[in-house]
Amino acid sequence: MRFTGKTCIVTGGGSGIGRATALQMAREGGSLVVVDLRLQAAQATVDAIHAAGGTAIAAECDVGNATQVQAAVDAAVKAFTAIHVIVNDAAMMTFTPILDIAEADFFKVIATNLGSVFLFSKYGAAHMPPGSAIVNLSSVHAHATTENVVPYASSKGAIEAFTRGFSLEMMQRKIRVNAVAPGAVDTPMLWDNPNVKSGAEKITGAVGTPEDLAAAICFLASDDGAFVNGTTLLADGGRLAGLP
Ligand SMILES: NC(=O)c1ccc[n+]([C@@H]2O[C@H](COP(=O)([O-])OP(=O)(O)OC[C@H]3O[C@@H](n4cnc5c(N)ncnc54)[C@H](O)[C@@H]3O)[C@@H](O)[C@H]2O)c1
Repeated sequence: MRFTGKTCIVTGGGSGIGRATALQMAREGGSLVVVDLRLQAAQATVDAIHAAGGTAIAAECDVGNATQVQAAVDAAVKAFTAIHVIVNDAAMMTFTPILDIAEADFFKVIATNLGSVFLFSKYGAAHMPPGSAIVNLSSVHAHATTENVVPYASSKGAIEAFTRGFSLEMMQRKIRVNAVAPGAVDTPMLWDNPNVKSGAEKITGAVGTPEDLAAAICFLASDDGAFVNGTTLLADGGRLAGLP
């Protein structure tokens, strides 16, 4: 019961890795704030937590919008007083070459994926006591990528740099900041990816489950990861270890 007495915010908690992480943290005693753009999806995760006897609230929020992030943080503090864990999981992808992509679409990806990490860190950390932890979702695309996903790959590379730098700023306050970089994981984001559908991004090796990633995230978010700080845990089933 690693999260007993802890309030855990999980963005993107309405689907995939975020949902599995919220369910795992709730099973281990956490009080969950399930954040998602799609309120119905967040509420479905909350309902599943309640059905299993856990504690959770849903918060509708576009994680790239500062006002909405502040409102989600306020809702968490109002319901549970303090925040002990933030998992920045929500993200989006585009599939257009840089020469063709609209400026607004490029900056939307950066705001959603990287801006969200900045906003939840800036507004959430103020309510985090010593011993708290932030876990940011990166991707193997921060390390090796395919064509037409430059905004996504850029945002994930920047998230790893943000994680490293912000961990230094939080060290005196004893708030740890780490990232997890998943490989292929069996979620809508993987199978809806046009590059995966077309074969441009080949999924030849292991495909993880959302629960596999939740295990890695919960390790870093809990005291099990007490001496792990400022780093990125690659959780890709060995995908990046070999030549393609
Ligand atoms: N699935 C994979 O193969 C894979 C691989 C590498 C990295 N990741 C990363 O893991 C994380 C979770 O991915 P997933 O596969 O579980 O995705 P998913 O599509 O199953 O779930 C993402 C959730 O985020 C929500 N969301 C999207 N934009 C949002 C916004 N602006 N505000 C609030 N919520 C928003 C969606 O509604 C959805 O519920 C992402 O950061 C993703 O980049 C996934």
